[in-house]
Amino acid sequence: MCGIVGYVGDKQAQDVVINGLRRLEYRGYDSAGIALVAEGRLEHDKRAGRLANLEKAIAQHPLPQATTGIGHTRWATHGAPNDLNAHPHLGSSQRVALVHNGIIENFAGIRDELERAHHVLASETDTEVAAHLLELQVESGVDLTTAMQRVCQRLQGAFTLVAVDAQDPSRVVAARRNSPLVVGLGEGENFLGSDVAAFIEHTREALELGQDQVVTITREGVEVTTFDGAPAEGTRYHVDWDLSAAEKDGHDWFMRKEIFEQPRAVADSLLGRHARNGLLQLDEMRLSDQELRDIDKIIIIACGTSFYAGMVAKYAIEHWTRVPVEVELASEFRYRDPILDYSTLVVAISQSGETADTLQAIRHARLQRSKVLAICNTNGSTIPRESDAVIYTHAGPEIGVASTKGFLTQLVACYLLALYLAQVKGTRYGDEISEIMHQLEAVPDQIASVLSRSDEVYELARSHVGTRSVLFLGRHAGYPVALEGALKLKELAYIHAEGFAAGELKHGPIALVEEGLPVLCVVPPRGRDQLHEKMISGIQEVRARGARTICLAEEGDTSIEPYADHLIRLPKVPVLLQPLVAVVPLQLFACELATAMGHDVDQPRNLAKSVTVE
Ligand code: F6R
Repeated sequence: MCGIVGYVGDKQAQDVVINGLRRLEYRGYDSAGIALVAEGRLEHDKRAGRLANLEKAIAQHPLPQATTGIGHTRWATHGAPNDLNAHPHLGSSQRVALVHNGIIENFAGIRDELERAHHVLASETDTEVAAHLLELQVESGVDLTTAMQRVCQRLQGAFTLVAVDAQDPSRVVAARRNSPLVVGLGEGENFLGSDVAAFIEHTREALELGQDQVVTITREGVEVTTFDGAPAEGTRYHVDWDLSAAEKDGHDWFMRKEIFEQPRAVADSLLGRHARNGLLQLDEMRLSDQELRDIDKIIIIACGTSFYAGMVAKYAIEHWTRVPVEVELASEFRYRDPILDYSTLVVAISQSGETADTLQAIRHARLQRSKVLAICNTNGSTIPRESDAVIYTHAGPEIGVASTKGFLTQLVACYLLALYLAQVKGTRYGDEISEIMHQLEAVPDQIASVLSRSDEVYELARSHVGTRSVLFLGRHAGYPVALEGALKLKELAYIHAEGFAAGELKHGPIALVEEGLPVLCVVPPRGRDQLHEKMISGIQEVRARGARTICLAEEGDTSIEPYADHLIRLPKVPVLLQPLVAVVPLQLFACELATAMGHDVDQPRNLAKSVTVE
């Protein structure tokens, strides 16, 4: 949510900043702006809309050459997405420029105070007050680093701030509280970014910053302090992916590329999980076996697609470990005063590792003495850092705003967690765990086989241009898949779409069904109790009322044929693993339909990736 870039070195800062913003645009695309320090002056430009608008403006009115600069791509919170509210914001005498991600909660009081002192604030944002405060500080004679430390002590809320001072081209200064910021370490140059994508084309060496820290980058080095000015240290790490992972690689959208990366992402997330003795191992798991044995309840917290991964996980964890699992939206969790104690394991699922709702929920859980385990795709992000344990997924960077490979790899991590718990608690025999691991290891090829038939799904999707409403049905582990299919369609195609548990239809939602309504049905594999038969009953109910059914069913399931207007075949997998293959056609369907409708699939309206505000 908002992308931030900072640079100091010997390259043209404009190029470094604009390229960085391009890679961060998925975090927000309501407006974009840049500020450069050139010959004792600040030069800046900012434009509403996509980064392309800013680039066009700069092409028409070139900025001077400079080697120090900052940039911002915005997801609006305070104030409409127009030129005036775009970042950077400048102080009254245009000496300091500042970009911000997050929300400054006490900005209204500071604004009143500044206005009483005759400052003119041009925008409706919460950010501009910080620019004025910083400028007052540097004008009082302190350097930008000290100024930033002092200003941060006054601010409440969540923020990443990055600033430059026209009279000090040698440094860019940044600060973070509850909002992401990483440092890129170069040779004779250094970088700041909301995430490593901002500078991955220049360096893969990064520095992770702690909470409430100020960082100063110069050509020569990086200095970290606390808000009180005490020396502090970041944690250095090597980024295990490179520029090619942040490119579209011949696809029209990052999302489509990421859908097709799923066989690799799932395989990578399964890699290295067997110890020599044949037992399952989770290297990053920082909880002891005894701590795991003591767990008598699990609460999974997450948002959006990650929440649906949690819903699937509940079926697997309860079945394999007999530990009760609750799944809760992170944004609701702490407001209901959940019952937690040291024997409750809270599992926080987050692709980005920065989602504010999830972060606040884990903080609440830890205050109640619960252990928190994060399932996360982003090394060095806040959620794993603030958790007791972590299972990293190995999806590589997910840039499309709609999560795809993030979801599949979260499912893999949840299955691994469930099996590991079963191993430690002894609720499943070793050979049963090995068999499920073999089934999981077969999944990448099965996903590849679904992808090899994508043209069929694309054709179906294109035939739905003009459709106003779509329903998705599932049962058991297929129910969250139906919810996820509906979410993908809503966010990308802007179509009314809802997912239902098939058995729940007759309790109300069936009233929505009318002649010709497309209903996508995730049909469970045969042979699992009565799930399959019950699903067919649900399908019959909607067909009887005129719905057109598109059924996703396993190879060889002929019993579904009379009930399907269109049939998409899935590989044969056990019911608990079916979400891993069943969601793929739904992702392809949403991606292609949105493309055919002329939407920007990677940057859907009103959305941003990595939601760092509550
Ligand atoms: C939907 C989507 C979102 C995210 C949600 C949580 O396609 O991507 O619903 O899943 O915002 O994000 P993370 O997993 O980063 O916490």
